[in-house]
Formats: sequence, structure tokens, C-alpha cells
Amino acid sequence: MSTEVLGIDVGATGMKAALVDTTKGELTTERHKISTPEGGKPEDMVGVIHELIDHFQWAGKPIGIGFPAVIMGGKTLTASNIDNSWIGYPVESSIEEKTGNKVQVINDADAAGLAEITFGKGKGVSGTVILLTLGTGIGSAIFKDGKILRNTELGHILYEGDIAEKAVSNSARKKHDMNWKEYGTKLGDFLSYIHKLFYPDLIILGGGISKKFDNYSSYFPQHLNVTPASQYNNAGIIGAALSAVK
Ligand code: BGC
Repeated sequence: MSTEVLGIDVGATGMKAALVDTTKGELTTERHKISTPEGGKPEDMVGVIHELIDHFQWAGKPIGIGFPAVIMGGKTLTASNIDNSWIGYPVESSIEEKTGNKVQVINDADAAGLAEITFGKGKGVSGTVILLTLGTGIGSAIFKDGKILRNTELGHILYEGDIAEKAVSNSARKKHDMNWKEYGTKLGDFLSYIHKLFYPDLIILGGGISKKFDNYSSYFPQHLNVTPASQYNNAGIIGAALSAVK
């Protein structure tokens, strides 16, 4: 099988793709990004996925897609920041029908986690590694000795009276206009809570805001072992591509 795969990272705000060398875990092209259509409906978002595939002239070749929902048996089972009509939608087969080849769809945070555990900060780390992506929502990937436990939803743990992503995602930071101290303190508190539940050996933070890690990480409690993702927000694209060859 070819080692070059089109990785697509579908987010509630933007949809990004690039070709990935899956032996090195590196992008081999520029990323191409299209805004997620207003309302996040299946037909519109699948349309953008096809635009991305066309942009790279990649029909008939391996494609891996990270998607912001629980994915089982090629279907989306949840819809947190996308339209509810995604629930039960056969996402894999609807894309395969048009491209004429096998497409692998996995949860977006699981994809980012696969990239980090294979090539990034989680590589070779034994014990429990938790990756959290901080974006519109919060995604999670949990690894035990390098093996993934798929479809975990730590961003949906009840926290301050609602699901945690309403309080500590990057969109919550913007919505509530938190400065770095406020955000770092709140996020640190949430990470302490996660620590009390799982006692991870390492927590990796992904998503675009992981690039600004130094702005808020000094407010985290000292006992936490937290690091930004090595691929920042490209981990989703790389891990999606990896899932298609694993
Ligand atoms: C979804 C997760 C997803 C995360 C990041 C959450 O709202 O429930 O499945 O991984 O957002 O996109």
C-alpha cells in the first residue's frame, strides 16, 4: 500500500487537508483549508470533503478523515458542535460512494492522539497518556502503553454544571474573554480533575492553542506533567492519514 495518504481534519469551524508521508508523520504538501459550512449539515460538510479531495486530485487513493464525533462502524454517533442530523449518518460509505475507494473515518482527537503516540510527544511513553484537543470543543484520546482506547469523550465530563468543553475549550476562552491567567487557572483545575480520575503519566495538549502553551501553562498546578503536542494542530491531519494505513 502507498505510504502517501490524504489526511483530512474535519473541525466544527474549519476543514483542513494535506498529503502526509505516513512513514515519517510529516506533511508533504501545504495544508488546504476551507471553512466549515454554516450549520454543519452532513450534505454541506461532505461536499467540502469532496472539494478537498478534488483539490489534491486524490480520488481512488487512500484517505483518512478525523471527524469531531464518536465514530463506530463507519457512522457518526454524536453531534456536539455540528448539526444533529449527523447522528447515525453513514459518513464512511457516503464518501466512499463518490471517491470509489476505501475511506477511513475516526474521531478527530483519536487521530491527533495516534500522530502524537507514533511520532510525537507520546512516542515510547509507557503507562497512561492522555491527549486533549482544545478547539471549538474538547476532544480526548487515551493510550495505555501505546494502545489506544477509542471514542473517549473527556470533554463531556460534567464540570461546573455543564460539559467541560463549555468551560475550558478554546472557544469558551474566547466567548468569556478570559485572559491567559484566568484561562490557565481554569484549565489547570480541569486537568487536575482529569488527573484525579486517571492518574496519567503524561497529558498532551493539542489544537491551535497548543502553540501558545507558554502563555497559560505557568498557571497549571506543579504536580501535572503536561506538554504541548509536537505537531500542534497538524496532528489531526497526520493521525487521520495514519489511521488509513494502520
Ligand atoms: C466531540 C468530540 C470531538 C471534540 C473535538 C467534541 O465536542 O464530542 O467527539 O473529538 O469535540 O472536536
